[in-house]
Amino acid sequence: MSPLKVVVGITGGIAAYKAVGVVRALVLGGHDVHVVPTDGALRFVGRPTLEAISRNPVHTDLYEGVAEVRHVAIGQSADLIVIAPATANAIAKLATGLADDLLGNTVLASEAPVVIAPAMHTEMWRHPATQANIAILRSRGVTVVGPAVGPLTGVDSGPGRMEEPDVIVAAALDRVAASGRRDLAGRRVVVTAGGTREPLDPVRFLGNRSSGKQGVAIAEAARSRGADVMLIAANLEIAEPAGCDIRRVSTALELQQAVTDAAKGADVVVMAAAVADYRPAAVSESKIKKDAGDSGLTLELVRNPDILAGLGRSPHDGTLLIGFAAETESDDEQLLALGRAKREAKGADLFVVNRVGWSEGFASDENRIVVIGRNGEIVTRVHGTKMSVADDIIDVVVSEMKTAAVAAPTTKEHEPT
Ligand code: CTP
Repeated sequence: MSPLKVVVGITGGIAAYKAVGVVRALVLGGHDVHVVPTDGALRFVGRPTLEAISRNPVHTDLYEGVAEVRHVAIGQSADLIVIAPATANAIAKLATGLADDLLGNTVLASEAPVVIAPAMHTEMWRHPATQANIAILRSRGVTVVGPAVGPLTGVDSGPGRMEEPDVIVAAALDRVAASGRRDLAGRRVVVTAGGTREPLDPVRFLGNRSSGKQGVAIAEAARSRGADVMLIAANLEIAEPAGCDIRRVSTALELQQAVTDAAKGADVVVMAAAVADYRPAAVSESKIKKDAGDSGLTLELVRNPDILAGLGRSPHDGTLLIGFAAETESDDEQLLALGRAKREAKGADLFVVNRVGWSEGFASDENRIVVIGRNGEIVTRVHGTKMSVADDIIDVVVSEMKTAAVAAPTTKEHEPT
């Protein structure tokens, strides 16, 4: 990537010390970095550190450099703005468009992509005000990296920790690489994400550990590249992405109905959701009591339909079908063999294979995947944040669609939906 002019905004949270790592990684990557800390940030990290690491002067005062119209010049000339950490207060100010400091002015005066890395205590992150502000920023195209889940400043632990500097930098550079690419413009993409829940009684269900992160990242990547995206969301544990048509479902049968309807006329269907293979044969109208069984309780389960295989079997000319295989197999070749067999059995065009386990896969922000093609060949093998992996999967989709267009000179008319 050619060198970029990057503005790194630092706001006043404890994680400000980690922002030095963001600045350092960008400088070492050959980028011209201009740090704009708020006054609060300077209480946590000193200006000399920021000047030394960024190799540029650091300004904070709105009323300095007026002759050179600094309050707008920094933003106008930026190729990318990264705000790390972004406190709850900074997020609220950004959402409202406040410009009472140099960073606020810089953001408003810029057309560059904005990437923020929230950092705050879990309660502040979950507060409806913060969530509403994040939704506003997302709807304006701001990329939100994290927050990660882990130990916070005090004794508490949970979502709110600033993402690691290398994750933030990778996501920010990916965002620049992706912006301007509209290679899915006019395409209809359907993505299923999350995990189904099969009710046992009014308070219990059989579910799985899928958070929906990878599917949501794919929906976001497709949307940012111009696609018209429908996200079929099964019990997501993360915020719904902006700019997508969202259909909420819970059970496998609901998901089947939604995706079968949506697939008609879609150019791409990505089955990233973890679908329960079985559901309870009967759903109890009232809570099952613990004395329902003497020494144990046996549940009778019935098979759910294989949704992807159903789509694969029915005519889907011109619709690229992508399945996911999340396997616990530790041997790489065996893992690929399972993926190849599933792709073939379900009649999908591509299969994304990854390993999952007690500590791998589900809630993590990273993923390591292999995409298997129609002849069982490895199309790509990538490792990175779920956002960067999503972009790599979309690269494969775009290239498959180009190949298909060459193979079939007449473009398919969308069936009415
Ligand atoms: N899938 C589906 N319907 C199901 C089960 C899975 O459409 N009832 C889809 C998933 O969304 C995924 C792919 O099939 O894209 C593979 O899912 P997976 O759970 O790995 O495969 P299963 O067929 O359920 O095989 P198994 O659980 O035996 O490994």
